[in-house]
Amino acid sequence: MTYKDFNIKPIPGSQTWPMRHRVMYPEMSPESVILDEDTQGIHFGLFSPDGKLVSVISLFERENGHYQFRKFATDTSEQGKGYGSALLSYIIDFCQAKNARVLRCNARTSASAFYKRYGFRETDITYFKDGHDFVVMEREL
Ligand SMILES: CC(C)(COP(=O)(O)OP(=O)(O)OC[C@H]1O[C@@H](n2cnc3c(N)ncnc32)[C@H](O)[C@@H]1OP(=O)(O)O)[C@@H](O)C(=O)NCCC(=O)NCCS
Repeated sequence: MTYKDFNIKPIPGSQTWPMRHRVMYPEMSPESVILDEDTQGIHFGLFSPDGKLVSVISLFERENGHYQFRKFATDTSEQGKGYGSALLSYIIDFCQAKNARVLRCNARTSASAFYKRYGFRETDITYFKDGHDFVVMEREL
């Protein structure tokens, strides 16, 4: 299967917020997952065959042909079904079609192995925030 077998489409940033909150930061307030830059981002959702939003990702254009994705989450009960892989492959193609050079993310170290499978490498930039260890990861496009 490729991402073309999945129902992926642009969604308003506000439609990502409940998923971000539920999956990534349930211990924080619902408002805490709203980013100032959400209005500048491109947000994508993957919908299951029965039309339920199951995975979200937000993409932001940076300088010099760089893009960054943030707040990537698959609903807890839907993880491990290939939805996240499809969404990540989709945005890699999307960035390539924009002639972007590099795609990066601030990865939770718990997800680093996942990103390595898609060609991302760890940089030496690491930090701790909101109870999680992060490593900046990037991939040439
Ligand atoms: C990371 C995440 C978005 C992946 O979405 P998903 O829909 O579960 O991904 P997939 O089903 O496509 O997983 C593909 C493979 O990666 C594996 N995988 C998923 N999450 C992983 C992780 N954190 N570390 C290592 N492997 C992982 C799956 O087990 C699966 O393996 P398989 O192909 O051998 O069965 C999802 O697990 C998630 O929302 N996690 C919590 C929030 C989070 O950590 N977000 C990323 C912040 S940087």
